[in-house]
Amino acid sequence: MIKTKLKDKLKEMLDKKQAILATNFYNFETLKGILIAAQQEKQPIILQLTRSSIEYMGLQNAYNMAKNGLEFYNIEGWIHLDHGDSYELAEQCINIGFDSVMFDGSELDFEQNIEITAKVVKNAQKLDVNVEAELGYVAKLGQSSDKVAFTEPEDAKIFVENTGVNALAVAVGSAHGFYKQEPKLDYDRISAIRQITNTPLVLHGGSGIPAESVRKAVYNGICKVNVATETKNIFMQTLQNILKNNNEIDLRKVFPQAIDAVSNLIKTKFKILK
Ligand code: 13P
Repeated sequence: MIKTKLKDKLKEMLDKKQAILATNFYNFETLKGILIAAQQEKQPIILQLTRSSIEYMGLQNAYNMAKNGLEFYNIEGWIHLDHGDSYELAEQCINIGFDSVMFDGSELDFEQNIEITAKVVKNAQKLDVNVEAELGYVAKLGQSSDKVAFTEPEDAKIFVENTGVNALAVAVGSAHGFYKQEPKLDYDRISAIRQITNTPLVLHGGSGIPAESVRKAVYNGICKVNVATETKNIFMQTLQNILKNNNEIDLRKVFPQAIDAVSNLIKTKFKILK
């Protein structure tokens, strides 16, 4: 399959007011579930790896699994580092062949975030790799929403101009993990950031955001929607339910049901973005 560069694909999404689904995978089975959904729905997909998943599977192994999987299922897809926490990790992923890396400097001060993001961009450009960065602060898994700092459009403009990032993760009312109450996204803020930066925006914390809110966010400038917690959760919940009253030790009989559950979840996410 001839693959468009992710930065070009995201720009195309921006023009069309559409978004690509990005979901994390954790092992062969979650990856397989995601790929089957993408193949059956004929949808493009961004496959994401965090540092913990990379440490769990091994960088080369995780990358090979995703790359082979995209080829095997003949899917338009990209491999992306999610929440890269250092220049070095981003560099390793760029060198191994990732299509895209995120440098997450959201816990740094503004100038430091700009400085390291710009360095990552400079390095990534040599291999035409897409770079996403985060400005503002989206609460991480288990953190209280008090930590949230919404992205200011003026800051976003300065940030994009000084770093050259291809995509910007914005804090606009979402948070990582399950929500205790329905999130209220700030659509005006998304639209203002989109207008002032003309850059594809990324919505983190996609798990549990109602379909209508996601669609409205996309209409206003979100071009990539990240879902992780729901993918991990449906896989484990399905296994736990099966094994509650079952002593089956042949994992090849048990795992397919969890893989199907992942596929079904991802299909519902594709439908939201269609
Ligand atoms: P959720 O785990 O809340 O779906 O967030 C995913 C994400 O934003 C990954 O970067």
